[in-house]
Amino acid sequence: MVTGKNNPKPVNTESCPQPDGFFSDRLNSIIPTSDGSVTLMGPYGETYHSTGGAVDESQHVYIECGLRHYMEQREAAGFLPKVINIFELGLGTGLNALLTYRETLRNNFPDLQINYRAVETNPLEPDIWEKMDYAQTEKEKAFFHQMHLGPWDKPFVPASGFTLIKMKENYLDLTLYDPIHVVYYDAFSPAVQPDLWTYEAIGKLIPVLKENSVLTTYSCKGSFRQALHDVGFSIEKLPGTGKKRHILRAVYGSQNSLITGVSNASMAK
Ligand SMILES: C[S@@+](CC[C@H](N)C(=O)[O-])C[C@H]1O[C@@H](n2cnc3c(N)ncnc32)[C@H](O)[C@@H]1O
Repeated sequence: MVTGKNNPKPVNTESCPQPDGFFSDRLNSIIPTSDGSVTLMGPYGETYHSTGGAVDESQHVYIECGLRHYMEQREAAGFLPKVINIFELGLGTGLNALLTYRETLRNNFPDLQINYRAVETNPLEPDIWEKMDYAQTEKEKAFFHQMHLGPWDKPFVPASGFTLIKMKENYLDLTLYDPIHVVYYDAFSPAVQPDLWTYEAIGKLIPVLKENSVLTTYSCKGSFRQALHDVGFSIEKLPGTGKKRHILRAVYGSQNSLITGVSNASMAK
């Protein structure tokens, strides 16, 4: 069995992460997933995406439940934004960035300027990301290449309405300055990166989070939900995709109550 970050029964357990090198024979190997897209084996014996479907998972968790939900909520409140700032923890393969850019290319949010910032400690080598064939069009392919090859800390504007800045830093050392409206929280799991799923880690976002900002992630770990609640989010467990039963959405500052039920109304379209 392939150990995936979203597999219900990972080989790694929280009390017993595998030592570095344990999976070195498979590190960075390309793994097929159930929706026909690929993912990558990472350094902790976890895949970068769910083996139940890499593209399906990213589209559902981050685009539909995150970005689209934020836009729909703002529109319903009568405040359709012209600019939104997205922050991603873990650029990795760049799949989430590509799917977000696809929204711009398809004009799914007319007149919206998306500023996308992603942090990454371990950039992938070209011989790896070149094998991640997520792009569907020539424009997407060009974006994917330029995103990976381009410089760090410099704005990249592939098209009007979309700006990407990638930062080669440890999230835990980062100081954020620009306001954030949408967070894609996509580190490896709490079992292998416990420091990234704590009150302290999530607290780094608080000074720059806008009221009603939306954070989504694939992990529903109870202590992380509690940490989100403690810093001022209201929390929903939503249906997942593939092998994953639930995912998490947290909205900052609106109600400050812990919601643990599953909301079918929030399923992706
Ligand atoms: C589960 S993968 C997901 C990557 C990406 N979102 C994608 O779709 O490919 C987690 C990513 O977070 C990065 N990462 C882990 N810890 C980090 C940290 N402390 N700061 C920044 N990036 C980190 C890893 O190197 C990896 O690329």
